[in-house]
Amino acid sequence: MIVTIDGPAGAGKSSIAHQVASRLEFEFLDTGAMYRAATLAALRAQMDLSDTDGLAEFVGTLNLAWKSNTIWIDQEDVSGLIRTPEVTRSIRYLADVPAVRSRLSQLQRQIACGRNIVTEGRDQGAEVFPDAECKIFLTASPTERAKRRMRQLADSGSYLSLEDVLAAQNQRDLEDRMRAVGRLRAADDAVVINTDGMLPEQVLDQIVDLVRSRLD
Ligand code: DC
Repeated sequence: MIVTIDGPAGAGKSSIAHQVASRLEFEFLDTGAMYRAATLAALRAQMDLSDTDGLAEFVGTLNLAWKSNTIWIDQEDVSGLIRTPEVTRSIRYLADVPAVRSRLSQLQRQIACGRNIVTEGRDQGAEVFPDAECKIFLTASPTERAKRRMRQLADSGSYLSLEDVLAAQNQRDLEDRMRAVGRLRAADDAVVINTDGMLPEQVLDQIVDLVRSRLD
């Protein structure tokens, strides 16, 4: 069974998707990590990020692997290296290229094939797995999402103002929503959950109950 969890940055998708997978004893796939790793590889190779054909060809030859919740380029685990501001800033150059999306979507389908898996991203329910048995779209108000992000940053020792976090978040939302292919959107048959005012345990319970009802 495939469970897709999509939604904007800061909606709490990652931790919820992880927990849903572990509660149900499903595997987990972080598709954002794949876009991040492809971007890291392109930066390292000093690719011209405006050369869409070059990027498509480059990603076509890239050896990306997802193993036990870690992301690998060739024989290197890059899970710790893909969350830098430089990578985050540059992802859109790859994520906007349809041929790059098609290659990564193909890899995602290969990974999920025949498995019980929770996949997390932007386009999972609407584009990559249109036949997934259970589709969730997690969202929250921009301010709530920015406040969560501020707390996460503070936990890792970075202190930014709400205004700065909101501005960066609005920019990413715009990029994620306006992309011609693979844009952030809820599939028509997705269950939309607005997590404003909900405790993480409540969100988790709601999703786990929903998946169990679909399993039955
Ligand atoms: O989930 P994340 O913040 O790690 O994702 C990083 C970026 O990758 C996000 O801003 C857009 C892109 N992305 C995408 O285009 N499609 C996906 N399925 C997942 C991520």
